[in-house]
Amino acid sequence: MLIRAPEVERPSASAVDAALADLERALGSSKVDTSEAARTTCARDESEAFGVTPDVVVHAVDASDVARVLAIASERGVPVTPRAGGTGRSGGAVPAAGGIVLDTSTMGRIKEIDRAELVCVVEPGVVTGALHAACEAEGLFYPPDPNSWKTCMIGGNVAENAGGPRAFKYGSTQRWVLGTEACLMGGRVVRTGRRTVKGVSGYDVTSLLVGSEGTLAVLSEVTLRLVRKPEAVATLLGLCASARDAAAAVTALVTSGLVPRCVELMDAWTLEAVRRQGAAVDPRAGALLLVELDGETREVEAALERAGGILAAAPGSIEVQVAQDAAQRDRLWEARRSLSPATKKLAKYKLSEDVVVPRTRIADLLDETARSAEALGVRHLTYGHAGDGNLHVNFLWDDDGERSRVDAAIASLMKTTVALGGTLTGEHGIGITKIEYLPLEQSADLIALQEDVKRAFDPQGLLNPGKIFAPRRGHGAC
Ligand code: LAC
Ligand code: ZN
Repeated sequence: MLIRAPEVERPSASAVDAALADLERALGSSKVDTSEAARTTCARDESEAFGVTPDVVVHAVDASDVARVLAIASERGVPVTPRAGGTGRSGGAVPAAGGIVLDTSTMGRIKEIDRAELVCVVEPGVVTGALHAACEAEGLFYPPDPNSWKTCMIGGNVAENAGGPRAFKYGSTQRWVLGTEACLMGGRVVRTGRRTVKGVSGYDVTSLLVGSEGTLAVLSEVTLRLVRKPEAVATLLGLCASARDAAAAVTALVTSGLVPRCVELMDAWTLEAVRRQGAAVDPRAGALLLVELDGETREVEAALERAGGILAAAPGSIEVQVAQDAAQRDRLWEARRSLSPATKKLAKYKLSEDVVVPRTRIADLLDETARSAEALGVRHLTYGHAGDGNLHVNFLWDDDGERSRVDAAIASLMKTTVALGGTLTGEHGIGITKIEYLPLEQSADLIALQEDVKRAFDPQGLLNPGKIFAPRRGHGAC
């Protein structure tokens, strides 16, 4: 059983027909795809959200294609859902009202990598992993590393303000976006931000667009900041007796002054799932920490020594292992990065949340989640970016009849998160899947203010409708 997009008014058949004719005239029929296969693929992303299969998928190849689609959509009153890699986890790219899917995965050029300015300019369809490789070949580094980096794309990363393990040291995507070329409903194209490291002209529209989940504009180009590739990387594995011990070790590590680039945690249920997949995880371990450091070689050696000491001295520590070479490190990360698809195989259905709590409240969140899920009889497991307090709490079930209990467990998780001073989503966005919970975290006035911003960009409410804010009857275009 999936999460349905909110009801949003669908375009009339005559509006869709008129838009189709306009699109073919303006872009040529090769970019206007009404095939069943394309429409079905673009009806879903990697979340559990579903909406309305689009009427057409347009494969844009440049900014003028994007702008023309947005002009036609406005004129004909047809909704548009932007899409890049389609790997989102909250339904951001899932059309709520059919209409047009604007596919930007076909805009995959790395236009420039400027080594002197430490800047690159890319199109939205660049695969994040390909950008990593291109930068690293130049001795440079683009840090954001969503776990889907092999297939996710920069357009989606920017739209959702994606994170990843390295966000602990380097921050989420937002910290790396200097400027954009943004196509607006109606067909205007604006450049936001800058290419320089500093700049404070006007409102920070670039930051507003990052994380706006494709509801304000469609990006046709992004200017990203880079850094020099770190000289050395070291990875540590800490086995702990319990998740509470692991959480306390995270606090000890973070307050020591060390800044690892990643601090990942897996709880006992996650380790059990990993063992069931055939991995030899020490049976004594009730939680695991994966810590990674980077920097100058000598600095990393010293930090490795200190981090190892802190983990070993933490109460409940069982063993600390250091990856001996790049191959061992890659194997550890492969195991971590495959957790999401691997745990999906454990049950017919899986819902994965990405709540964030203050780091010192991680253990409280884990305890409360276990208490509530067990009282409801719902299977769960948690892993994630503990350094940031950003945890993926996963609920698993096989039978539709269990769904109401799963919903109760999710609602309880959301309430607990907010009560602990946290936030509903650290990297996946609100999209469709968390839409009903936003009012738990944000006041009605703050939501109304954001809806006003949305109306300024998209007065007809046609750009990615049915996302972030629950549609309200009689409240204008949102
Ligand atoms: C991860 C994804 C689910 O961290 O964000 O595995
Ligand atoms: Zn994650």
